Amino acid sequence: MKRLLLTTTFVAAALLANPYESKPEEIAAVKATGQKASAALLKSLGGNLQKHLQSGGPMEAFGFCSDHAYTMTEAVDQSMGSDVSVKRISLKYRNPVNAPQGSEKAILESLETLQANGVVLPDEVVEVIGDGVYKYYKPLLINKEACLKCHGDIDKLPELAKAIRERYPEDKATGYRMNDLRGAVVVTVKH
Ligand code: HEC
Repeated sequence: MKRLLLTTTFVAAALLANPYESKPEEIAAVKATGQKASAALLKSLGGNLQKHLQSGGPMEAFGFCSDHAYTMTEAVDQSMGSDVSVKRISLKYRNPVNAPQGSEKAILESLETLQANGVVLPDEVVEVIGDGVYKYYKPLLINKEACLKCHGDIDKLPELAKAIRERYPEDKATGYRMNDLRGAVVVTVKH
C-alpha cells in the first residue's frame, strides 16, 4: 500500500475556508504554547500512571486515574493562565467530560480517516477557530503495551474489568490495539 508520510505540522482548517488571516509568527507562537501545555499535562498524567502501575499494579493505577486524572488535568489547565486551556478528548471516551466539543469531533474523525488510509499522523495540528483564537491538537496514540490493560481487551483482567464497568457504565474506551489513535490533547489558545 502506498504510504503518505506527513513530516511537518499542517494547519487543519483549509486555507480557503479560513476567513481570518493567520500570521506565520502567530501560528508559531500557538504551537510553542500548545507544546508547552500538552507536555505539562502528559508529564503529570503519564508520570503518575507509571508510578502507580509500578507500585500497586493496574488496579491501584486505575483507582488513581479514576479519582485524580480529571482534577490533575484541571490543575494543569489552571496553571496555564486564562488565555490558555488544556484538556483531553476522545471519540471513544471513558469519562463523558472528555467528549469532543464542536469542531473537535470532526478533527478527530479526520485524523482517524488519515490513519486508516496509511498516513503516519503528524505530531501536532493547529485549527483556526476565529480571529486570534486557535486550537492546538496533539494526537495521542496507544503507544505502550500498558495502555492496553485498561483500554484494550480488558476482560483479560476480570477484577479490573469489573471495576472499570462499575465506575464508568457508559465506557467506550476499550478494544484498542497498539498504535490506534486514542484521542488528543487540545490546547485552546487566545492570542
Ligand atoms: C490503569 C488503567 C489505565 C491505564 C494503564 C491507562 N489508562 Fe487511559 N484512562 C483510564 C481511566 C480510568 C480514564 C478516565 C479518567 C477520568 O475519569 O478522567 C482514562 C482516560 C484516558 C483518556 C481521556 C479520554 C477518555 O477516554 O476519557 C485518554 C486520552 C487516555 N486515557 C489515554 C491513555 C493512554 C495513551 C494510555 C497508555 C499510555 C492509557 N490511557 C493508560 C485508565 C487507564
